[in-house]
Amino acid sequence: MKQLHKQASLNQHLQMPTHSAKPSKPPPRSGAARSAASYLLREQRLLFVLVGAFLAASFFLLRPSLPVPISHPSTSHLILPQPTYTLPTTPFSAARRVPAALKQRGRRVVVTGGAGFVGSHLVDKLIARGDSVIVIDNFFTGRKENLVHHFGDPRFELIRHDVVEPILLEVDQIYHLACPASPVHYKYNPIKTIKTNVMGTLNMLGLAKRIGARFLLTSTSEVYGDPLEHPQKETYWGHVNPIGVRSCYDEGKRTAETLTMDYHRGAEVEVRIARIFNTYGPRMCLDDGRVVSNFVAQALRRQPMTVYGDGKQTRSFQYVSDLVDGLVALMESDHIGPFNLGNPGEFTMLELAEVVKETIDPDATIDFKENTADDPHMRKPDITKAKELLNWEPKVSLREGLPLMVTDFRKRILDEEN
Ligand SMILES: NC(=O)c1ccc[n+]([C@@H]2O[C@H](COP(=O)([O-])OP(=O)(O)OC[C@H]3O[C@@H](n4cnc5c(N)ncnc54)[C@H](O)[C@@H]3O)[C@@H](O)[C@H]2O)c1
Repeated sequence: MKQLHKQASLNQHLQMPTHSAKPSKPPPRSGAARSAASYLLREQRLLFVLVGAFLAASFFLLRPSLPVPISHPSTSHLILPQPTYTLPTTPFSAARRVPAALKQRGRRVVVTGGAGFVGSHLVDKLIARGDSVIVIDNFFTGRKENLVHHFGDPRFELIRHDVVEPILLEVDQIYHLACPASPVHYKYNPIKTIKTNVMGTLNMLGLAKRIGARFLLTSTSEVYGDPLEHPQKETYWGHVNPIGVRSCYDEGKRTAETLTMDYHRGAEVEVRIARIFNTYGPRMCLDDGRVVSNFVAQALRRQPMTVYGDGKQTRSFQYVSDLVDGLVALMESDHIGPFNLGNPGEFTMLELAEVVKETIDPDATIDFKENTADDPHMRKPDITKAKELLNWEPKVSLREGLPLMVTDFRKRILDEEN
């Protein structure tokens, strides 16, 4: 009895029904639908469901559609939202419109290796035609002096960066030149050379893929190695030593070409490949071991010109403005390539030495030295493809171009001596 009383007072305290003859739930009706209906009708659950459905419907009806890419010649890389309805102007709807400044912006171009010899001349041309240019360079062989005339131009930016590391930028075109090009420099740290060619090219292709930019690779005639076909057509696969001292450059560039084509086939990146033959002109490194700069610098310093081997090996020499015209023509064309860009005029080393003597010093002498490993015996581009498809061919002869280079070298050698 005492127990029962205790239980009753506890139930009273907790306001719990003790026991009732009348069940709190209505007797179960037949079927699952009936029990679901009864579940919904209890405790205003139906009202909550209806209010929820109303709120969800209003949200989906009133919100703008998902962002859709808008194609615009100069902003094709941008992912911009496309409003499907007009709301009263609020800070949010204003942010969804393409700002007028973006629509009017000209082409934006990245030039990797833009502080180097070829890159700096390319930058001059791009800036002159109205593009905004970002140069990426680690200054291994490049110099700020090559670009100093653009400092202060709002359309020009220079970033010290190594292409072996990724970088994020928003541009329309990428000219990928970054790579030491002369044997002296690319043999200095061969592992770094191949890393630049492979990882640097991967990073730049990855960037092109991400932002939808067009990508141009500056490959080289070295992909033909010591050629068994003469002159070299783009269809020739080459004769390259994969384990020699030049392989870091030759095979590095061959891999860079492979990566470029794989990004095109596999990721639909718009790509262009130029195979550049020996090029000369102002702003080349004074002592980079390339034959034209060697001869010119030696003749100006009144030193004998070094000829490796018997001097009968041949090269073709292209003036830098011709190359830059070819690179831009290729980038703007509808053709992937590869395209040979070079001057088919062929000279032996001894003939080149004669032209340098005529231009600088008729008394200049020649010093013969043993040839270097894997030095190609002959090199001459077949440029039929570039002539036909790019409407391009070189215009500047060696005798016209060499004096322009000599003027630049003479000034820099004098500056060095003073
Ligand atoms: N000049 C030629 O005769 C010739 C011939 C064939 C191919 N090419 C190619 O053209 C391109 C330019 O050659 P160039 O003659 O102007 O040579 P260059 O040495 O003058 O220029 C190369 C530029 O790349 C930069 N660079 C090198 N490694 C880099 C890295 N890891 N990250 C960022 N920047 C880096 C250098 O500092 C330099 O400014 C190269 O890709 C070269 O292979 C040139």
